[in-house]
Amino acid sequence: MENFGQFNLFSDAERISNVEDAKNWGTFKDSLRSPVHKWFTYPAGFSYKAVTHSIERHNIKPGMVIYDPFMGSGTTNVTAKSLGIDSIGVEAHPFVYKIAKAKLEWNVNKLEALLFIDKVNQCFKSTNSQITSSVGFQIDKCFPELILKCYPEETLIELHTLKSLYQNEDLAQPTKEFFYVVITALLRKISSAATGWPYIAPKKVKTTSAEKNVLIEFSKLSYAMLEDLEKIKISSVVGYENSKHLILNSDSRNTVGVIQNESIDHVFTSPPYLNNFDYSDRTRLELYFWGEANNWGEISHNIRTKLITSATTQILRGDTEKYTLTDDFRKDCPKLASFIQTSSNTLGELRKVKGGKKSYDLMVIGYFNDMHKIVRDVFRVLKSNSQALFVLGDSAPYGVHIPTDKLIGEIGLGVGFNNYQMEILRKRGDKWKNNPQRHGVSLQESIIILEKK
Ligand SMILES: C[S@@+](CC[C@H](N)C(=O)[O-])C[C@H]1O[C@@H](n2cnc3c(N)ncnc32)[C@H](O)[C@@H]1O
Repeated sequence: MENFGQFNLFSDAERISNVEDAKNWGTFKDSLRSPVHKWFTYPAGFSYKAVTHSIERHNIKPGMVIYDPFMGSGTTNVTAKSLGIDSIGVEAHPFVYKIAKAKLEWNVNKLEALLFIDKVNQCFKSTNSQITSSVGFQIDKCFPELILKCYPEETLIELHTLKSLYQNEDLAQPTKEFFYVVITALLRKISSAATGWPYIAPKKVKTTSAEKNVLIEFSKLSYAMLEDLEKIKISSVVGYENSKHLILNSDSRNTVGVIQNESIDHVFTSPPYLNNFDYSDRTRLELYFWGEANNWGEISHNIRTKLITSATTQILRGDTEKYTLTDDFRKDCPKLASFIQTSSNTLGELRKVKGGKKSYDLMVIGYFNDMHKIVRDVFRVLKSNSQALFVLGDSAPYGVHIPTDKLIGEIGLGVGFNNYQMEILRKRGDKWKNNPQRHGVSLQESIIILEKK
């Protein structure tokens, strides 16, 4: 038992799961080996096996509805579809939403897709030379600097050609969405710079891409993804076509008017972890390539502002309203409010003496204000006798342990859930254990199961 001042964070319901297979459930490893799930390597994604397990364990059947308020690349929804279960998903990041939408569209017209692959093949050589010889054509005017740094000029011209062919082609919506993902997936595969997650390092050369050619990789990937669609249809339950999937590019902090009270049978989700990924930053390559943003200012304004406060320590310290615990939070979870406020005060003091002057003190407050809204909304939409599962990790900014997993469980009790259980999937953060700059707090990834009676 651990004590944090007056507040005992461990619930009697806590339970530790040691299922061997479960240690990767919070990561995207399994999904990267599975048709359709693997189409976009989303480092924030989780394992489709975790969703399948939860669906079986909680007896969710076709005709029921599963909801993911942080849909990401759509793992929960694609899994639900393969099992013939209806789903709802909300994702605030417009690019990530588009990926999920395409992954849920299995009615791509194969003939139309093959004709487009053929057309690209036919057009490519002649179009390339036409573009480069056209008067005034300058490839460096076509993309923002980051893109220019990630590919040699020849590849940039080929990418520009492919993008133009795609944008000018009149394809049915499912086929159009399918090729949006094909071309997107191509970007990191063929980059000559290290574009792996989490960081893009334009100066670091990736030797595995040296021989990669845009046209060959485009064709290979298109055929492989068309084959994936066949595979997932064959392995899915009979009747998956009749399942319904409502997905929204919106904010899950408040879905009133969109998702009815007590209409959901199960929730399976993974929120942004505190002090972890900045999803808008990590998708810069894709956003710049498609012209959905042209610079960091546009990403901040158009995307970051829509996401919940997670990794963002670039905080406007003057925004006092956002970074003060809300009255609703204090009313629902008074003991928790005092724990979070104390942690924030400690972080505020550490900020004065630690390097980087990070605004962790405010980030913690903003994050839990947001998570309170989410858990409250999830409670509203869930039917009685159902569960909401949250996959998440704790964190320790400046070495101050913030046990997000237990805190979400406790917020759940505060907003009306009857009980919660916690299952630890794995210990994490080991890769930094020899780094003397890093705190020594042992971190973990868990599943919190909130129960509504
Ligand atoms: C941990 S990821 C979920 C990944 C997902 N489970 C998958 O397998 O791809 C969290 C997601 O929440 C999204 N997000 C952040 N704030 C949001 C908000 N207010 N409403 C909806 N989605 C949000 C992020 O863009 C991110 O894609």
